[in-house]
Amino acid sequence: MKKQQKTAFFCQNCGYESPKWVGKCPGCGEWNRFVEEPTKATDSHVPPEFQLNEKPRPIDAVEADEKARLKTGMEEMDRVLGGGIVAGSAILVGGDPGIGKSTLLLQVMHRLASQGLKVLYISGEESASQIKLRADRIGAASKSLYVLVEVALENILKYIKEVGPAVVVIDSIQTVYSSMLTSAPGSVGQVREASERLIILSKKTGIPVFLVGHVTKDGSIAGPKVLEHMVDTVLYFEGDMGHSYRIIRGIKNRFGPTNEIGVFEMRDRGLVEVSNPSEYFLTERPEGVAGSVVVAAIEGTRPILVEVQALVVGTSFGMPRRTAIGVDVNRVSLLVAVMDKVGGLHLGNHDIFVNVAGGVRLSEPAVDLGITAAIASSFLDRPIDPKTVVFGEVGLTGEVRGINQTEVRVREAERMGFHRCILPKTQLRGSLQGGAMKLCRVENLRDLMGNLF
Ligand code: TYD
Ligand code: MG
Repeated sequence: MKKQQKTAFFCQNCGYESPKWVGKCPGCGEWNRFVEEPTKATDSHVPPEFQLNEKPRPIDAVEADEKARLKTGMEEMDRVLGGGIVAGSAILVGGDPGIGKSTLLLQVMHRLASQGLKVLYISGEESASQIKLRADRIGAASKSLYVLVEVALENILKYIKEVGPAVVVIDSIQTVYSSMLTSAPGSVGQVREASERLIILSKKTGIPVFLVGHVTKDGSIAGPKVLEHMVDTVLYFEGDMGHSYRIIRGIKNRFGPTNEIGVFEMRDRGLVEVSNPSEYFLTERPEGVAGSVVVAAIEGTRPILVEVQALVVGTSFGMPRRTAIGVDVNRVSLLVAVMDKVGGLHLGNHDIFVNVAGGVRLSEPAVDLGITAAIASSFLDRPIDPKTVVFGEVGLTGEVRGINQTEVRVREAERMGFHRCILPKTQLRGSLQGGAMKLCRVENLRDLMGNLF
């Protein structure tokens, strides 16, 4: 008699395993995400060819092969990867459906193929002719770019070994299923099993593998959260459907810096690299209007200039609203409170909306001063000189505090033709004097108000 397969309940968001059904996941706090799935058999069913068979050895006997980094030739992508694709690494590319993950990876594969490398693009979402149509559209038809439409894990592994490509893309990991598990494709068990086996193969053969993962809100597909722990690098491809620019952001990278970004623009013939993001984000900026200011932010290792907008209007209902897009709304509330208390601006009866133009997200404290300046400008209805850049952290007593990489920010502003910088008082003393850039140092919010207009 065949033994009945054991089952357990798995959180479809984070992969938490529980012997009983529970409403709220103890792992990630999400509700109603537990689904019964067969557990992995305890007897090792990983075939010997998928085992790594490494032995312990002294670390100085291990070779670190920096040369093994494969350059994609797309500078924006290489930078986010920390200088190229590391041999044997697993890279998860997450993002909303329709954001352009398939397009991006097909272009990356095309770039690699045009260097003469044999690459394999495996899709479980589109037919071969659909992929070809897309490839033609973005000009990615290349002899050494192989495509495979397959969802069965065992076949995928077989073909990877057979073709022996330099890089593999699995688009997407949620469509892959293993016949060893009875649960549906896209469930936590399947996603974990497929990624585990692919990662082992990749480590063993040294073939880097890109895994595409969809981010879904409704929870019908396993969130890539489970995967984030398993892979070496996690990249998020994001952007606003209403805008044509896309940002690829490094969230985790075992072989390079995180929080690095690459900027692309989605055109009708695929993604185009944006090598001068400051210029790109400032193209539509209205000049000479109240409520708009340019801040110098650092994304990864790069300075970018972006416009912060604020709109301050009288509250029509009792509760004033605070809305923020692109910056933390709690940070905005905090800054409003500080402006009220020590800045001399009484904003208590006003709705305040803050937006970072172009849909960029800024999280560093250096944008505090920019948010404050934009709010003040809108509230007082006085435009800020369009050639002024603002940055600095604001403390709870209204003091303006120093931030890092000031010089890089000032240089970027200079390069973009700005002629005045409002920055924390303590910074760049002695250096950078003279030149075309006028440095205006402020100590606190009152100081800022005195110098802003
Ligand atoms: P896609 O790569 O299929 O997204 P994902 O794999 O993340 O689901 O991208 C789909 C979107 O990109 C679709 O809305 C059309 C758009 N697109 C362009 O604007 N230009 C192009 O050259 C291509 C190929 C797609
Ligand atoms: Mg796709």
